Formats: sequence, structure tokens, C-alpha cells
Amino acid sequence: MCPDSLQQRTFRTATADDTQLLGRAIAARLRGGEWLLLLGPLGAGKTTFVRGLARGLGYDGTVRSPTFTLVAVYGTRPVLVHADLYRLDEGASVDDLGLYDLAAEGDAVVVVEWADRCPELGLGRNAVAVSIALDEDPSCDIRSLRFSRSGSTSERFWREVECL
Ligand SMILES: Nc1ncnc2c1ncn2[C@@H]1O[C@H](COP(=O)(O)OP(=O)(O)O)[C@@H](O)[C@H]1O
Ligand SMILES: [Mg+2]
Repeated sequence: MCPDSLQQRTFRTATADDTQLLGRAIAARLRGGEWLLLLGPLGAGKTTFVRGLARGLGYDGTVRSPTFTLVAVYGTRPVLVHADLYRLDEGASVDDLGLYDLAAEGDAVVVVEWADRCPELGLGRNAVAVSIALDEDPSCDIRSLRFSRSGSTSERFWREVECL
């Protein structure tokens, strides 16, 4: 039985494969229109998680951080839009990347690495923040992925995350 009104849910993974598997499990619960805002330092496992999402949606190609292009679009159903704001210029808006237009086309799922570079991103959207932390011991592969809902997160999606 799921507890009522949880605002956060944390998963721990022991390997990169585990993190990909978590991405696959989340992918199976996406319907389109969700925004996943990824936070966490370099090497945390953001791209690894996105690779799992993409695989789960049926994409077999290469998935890497679109650090220079900023946005990659995978032709899955729903379409997966993968952004990496690491090199987003100071003061530039995600509007400049066409992210909102891409999201609207075909009700895509949008996943954003370094989402904290653009704090307005989550506002008013069906968004879940995923904060990925490394273990204190740098030789340890354990990661924690903390999912937090926002006011506009869809109940249906959050329930499924909660109950995973
Ligand atoms: N539990 C884990 N989850 C995700 N990645 C892990 C884990 N353990 C080790 N790794 C390694 O950490 C690195 C994460 O890289 P990446 O996903 O590109 O991070 P980011 O996109 O956050 O910079 C990869 O080399 C991956 O193999
Ligand atoms: Mg990355």
C-alpha cells in the first residue's frame, strides 16, 4: 500500500546498470508531457539514467550528454527530448533552445540535465525533479536518486513513481 501524499521518493542504485534499470522502469510509466529535471554534479549518473529512459522507450542508438548541441531528440513514442544545460550561457533562456516548442510537439517527454541552470523550468509544468547524489566515498558506486514532486506534477505519474 502506498503512503498518501509523499512529496519525495529516494532510490539507491549500486551500479550504472541499476541506474539504467531505474530509468527503464520510469520510462514504462511515462505517457508524454512529463518533465524530468535532473540535478547533480558531473559524473553523478544523469546521462546514465537518461540512457535507461531512452532504452525503455525503445531507442537503441547512442545516448550521450548533448553538452554542445544542448538538445537531442530521440524518435521514440512518446518522443524523448534530452537537454543538457551545462553550457547554457548565463542569462540565456531555454526558450532560445526551442525546448517548449519541442515539448509541445507530439506531447514529448522532456529530460533536462543541469536543470538548476534554469530555475523557471519546473514552474507550472508536469515536472518531477530528480536529484542524483554520489556516495561520500568516491570509490563507491552507490548513487541516490531523490525524486521530488512539484505542485503541478500529475497525480497519476507521481503515484506510479511512489509505488515503484
Ligand atoms: N550507480 C551508478 N549510477 C550511475 N552511474 C554510475 C554508477 N556507478 C558508477 N557509475 C559511473 O558514473 C558515471 C556517470 O556518468 P554520467 O551518467 O555521464 O554522469 P553525468 O551525466 O551526471 O555527468 C559513468 O561512468 C557510470 O558508469
Ligand atoms: Mg551528462
